[in-house]
Amino acid sequence: MGDITNVRQRIEELRGLINYHNYRYYVLDSPEISDAEYDELMRELKQLESEHPELITLDSPTQRIGAPPVEEFGVVEHPEPLLSLANAFSYEELAAWHKRASNLLAGRSFDLVCEPKIDGLAVALTYVDGLLVTGATRGDGYRGENITQNLRTVRSIPLSVPKEAPPRFEVRGEVYLPKAGFKKLNEERAKEDLPLFANPRNAAAGSVRQLDSSVTAKRPLDIFIYGLGPVEGKAVPDTHWGIMEYLKSLGFKVNPNIALYHTVDEVEECHQNWVEKRNDLPYEADGMVVKVNPIAFQRELGTVAHEPRWAIAYKFPAIQGTTRLVDIGVNVGRTGSLNPYAILEPVQVGGVVISQAALHNEEDIHRKDIRIGDVVVVQRAGEVIPEIVGPVKSRRTGEEKIFVMPSRCPVCGSEVIKPEGEAMHRCTNAACPSQALERIKHFVSRGTMDIDGVGEKLCQALFEAGLVKDVADLYYLTKEQLLGLERMADKSVSNVLNSIEGSKNRPLSRIIFALGILHVGEEYAELLAENFSSIGDLAKASQEDLLSLPSIGPKIADSIVTFFRQERNRQIIEKLRKAAVRLEREKVEEAKPEELPLAGLEFVLTGKLESFTRPEAEAKIKALEGKTVSDVTKKTSYLVVGVDPGSKLAKAQKLGIKTLSEAEFIKLLNQNTSSF
Ligand code: IVH
Repeated sequence: MGDITNVRQRIEELRGLINYHNYRYYVLDSPEISDAEYDELMRELKQLESEHPELITLDSPTQRIGAPPVEEFGVVEHPEPLLSLANAFSYEELAAWHKRASNLLAGRSFDLVCEPKIDGLAVALTYVDGLLVTGATRGDGYRGENITQNLRTVRSIPLSVPKEAPPRFEVRGEVYLPKAGFKKLNEERAKEDLPLFANPRNAAAGSVRQLDSSVTAKRPLDIFIYGLGPVEGKAVPDTHWGIMEYLKSLGFKVNPNIALYHTVDEVEECHQNWVEKRNDLPYEADGMVVKVNPIAFQRELGTVAHEPRWAIAYKFPAIQGTTRLVDIGVNVGRTGSLNPYAILEPVQVGGVVISQAALHNEEDIHRKDIRIGDVVVVQRAGEVIPEIVGPVKSRRTGEEKIFVMPSRCPVCGSEVIKPEGEAMHRCTNAACPSQALERIKHFVSRGTMDIDGVGEKLCQALFEAGLVKDVADLYYLTKEQLLGLERMADKSVSNVLNSIEGSKNRPLSRIIFALGILHVGEEYAELLAENFSSIGDLAKASQEDLLSLPSIGPKIADSIVTFFRQERNRQIIEKLRKAAVRLEREKVEEAKPEELPLAGLEFVLTGKLESFTRPEAEAKIKALEGKTVSDVTKKTSYLVVGVDPGSKLAKAQKLGIKTLSEAEFIKLLNQNTSSF
């Protein structure tokens, strides 16, 4: 397809198709084509865009993968404040709220809209001339953080809206992680020995506030739009219900469980219904939001102390129970962290028997003043690990004991330390059996080396038999050794040996993750694999080399350097190498001839760029190790010229500095990375 007009047409057609199928899949939850067909459309679009980078636009569906990391988020002033909600905890409180509103409206009657209150994070999205231009957090209600790049990665947020939409408007909604996504994220974090998110709200906030939006892109975030902010240039419906219908017609995702009622009693019935069925919702909801339907009445009712009088959060009762805290146990994780957990007298909470609960760390236990022997309130919320809310102090007998973290590792007896600035205590013995076994389990698990047939039980058996003391020993196992284990016959032994053999060629990122370096989870492993071509290379990296990578801070850099400094770890790597485990990037990846980092190049920008904002362009240059400065000098490598360039252009021409059009600039960026 050589003709540029044809290419442009095909690109537009593909974008239209992909946007439509995105909408069917992510907004309506009702796809019309298979994943394979969708992938094929995406592949063709990416291909055309890589051949014609000048045709890439910000609203292209290919741009949802995340942009280069930023150092900090900018600030967004909300033109109208984002409010919070007053709570009602009982029918009486709901009825009192309704009565007050009716009185203020001099008895005029009004409908009520009832919708689930999603446990996520409030955001405001601004669209100008059909395009998403800003996405911001609520912040303090008046000023939030600019998280546009991150929100672009949320598939159910439209990057563009139909031309019938107002020329400028803001929608508000709740970004959240569905229960399944939350569970999966915590499972992955547990594997990586990272602290777990306490609830979906924290998980959504943590995901959306990543400085590196490619991390956000990997989290299955979703959104429900629940309101309209300021609108310019067009009239919009005059009821909340009408607005929700209108926003749906513009392609926004509105909660399907929204309902319109006349009376408080109907609302009560609806609430009661959801109290019973809340577990069936695919997301966490902590109540129903009840809103006065006519917008004119909302205006009349107004706001007191950041809380509108026209809406209320009618909360669900917490799923709680009380029981006795029998003891506090301590597990040792893969990286040596000592993880306390509560051993409870079994109790039914919301239909599930609970006998253990999470206790995050010693500080948390003391902050809540939880003592062994206390009667405690336990709480469960959906997929969330049961937690202890606090002790029932009135039921203390004086026999309760204050918990002290053991000073010796409960598994190997070595000294326990609490590194400064960290919440967790750690066992100092790198050879601690519990750590060693956990590391082996981590190494074989899915997401790392994925050695099928070697599960937790077999790891334990191999470890106890002394056949596998570290991860490299796996590659030296013999048929005879395996046959000597219980329940291992010819067939299973050859399966195990085959899958161990098959794991020798995993991608570099997997092996980095599999090594179990403290703080290096899947995402950082991928980042490292993109920047170092082999384990040997990574082992040589200095603290400084590591810190120059986007989103790697001193804690992680330090942990990587320390890991490779340890003789034991060096030996393991050597053993892996001798066993022919590939410790390098795949050949295809290596053969990128056009890899030309911008290191050492100095850029100056002038005029307005159409595809990026200034900070975005600067971030892209920085991600490729280039530098942006404000003035043209003899040292300048390139002047990037946008629309309406300033005097810098003349200066560059005088000094003979090379200039780049926006398209040439994008091309240069694309030559250097495949990930934009
Ligand atoms: S309406 C002035 N509707 O709850 C009313 N809020 O406690 C603005 N929330 O910050 C909010 N689901 O983040 C509304 N269906 C829903 C909601 C909802 C969750 C959050 C929202 C707000 C907080 C207030």
